[in-house]
Amino acid sequence: MIELAASILSADFARLGAEAQAAVEGGATVLHVDIMDGHFVPNLTIGPPVVAALRRASRVPLDCHLMIERPDEFIPAFAEAGVDWISVHQEACTHLDRTLHLIASHGCKPGVVINPATPIYVLDEVLPLVHHVLVMSVNPGFGGQTFIHSSLKKIESLSRIRGSRRLQFRIEVDGGVHYDTVASVVAAGGEILVAGSAVFENGNPRESVKRLLESALFAANGPSQEISTAANYER
Ligand code: DX5
Ligand code: ZN
Repeated sequence: MIELAASILSADFARLGAEAQAAVEGGATVLHVDIMDGHFVPNLTIGPPVVAALRRASRVPLDCHLMIERPDEFIPAFAEAGVDWISVHQEACTHLDRTLHLIASHGCKPGVVINPATPIYVLDEVLPLVHHVLVMSVNPGFGGQTFIHSSLKKIESLSRIRGSRRLQFRIEVDGGVHYDTVASVVAAGGEILVAGSAVFENGNPRESVKRLLESALFAANGPSQEISTAANYER
């Protein structure tokens, strides 16, 4: 199932609720929320109070992408703010197994993220524990970067491994997902498509999401592929 997760990083934060709503009306079924600490990545974003405000403004699942050091210290606060999914970077977690269980113990769906330079074999032991694997197709920290094509091979391998090990995790892709790259992401096996600048930068999130999903549907080869709708995924 293909879904679009609108990354609010590129939204107009002064109008966050309305921007999120427009993306959902266009067909986004998840809101992707990037949390950056200025240490793990060279940028700063938002914390739990803003996430809680977004929670009040929207009913779709909030997908919290933690790009922070010591994520265990902040997982309870983001869970409390009302997020549904929490993903942590393999590169930031010394005790990844413990962190994934911590996320689940707070009632959220655990995900693991890998940077472009990180091979997927490091996830072997945790794949059975996660709801989603997030493959970074840019180096994390900023919106609007160029898609790194070597990530496609990683998406394909993950999809193969999931089949051979009969696992259930979903494959999410983040960074540079645009009109010209979305088809190859879907063809490789990407299912949850994170898009920030492609959705929000032209000022019409509703139309942009619609167009991206149409391209994704086309790439998924025909109308039989199920594209989720907001109605299916509201909490
Ligand atoms: C980057 C973030 C992404 C970002 C993607 O570190 O994790 O979620 O918003 O932005 P685009 O879609 O513009 O590449
Ligand atoms: Zn992200």
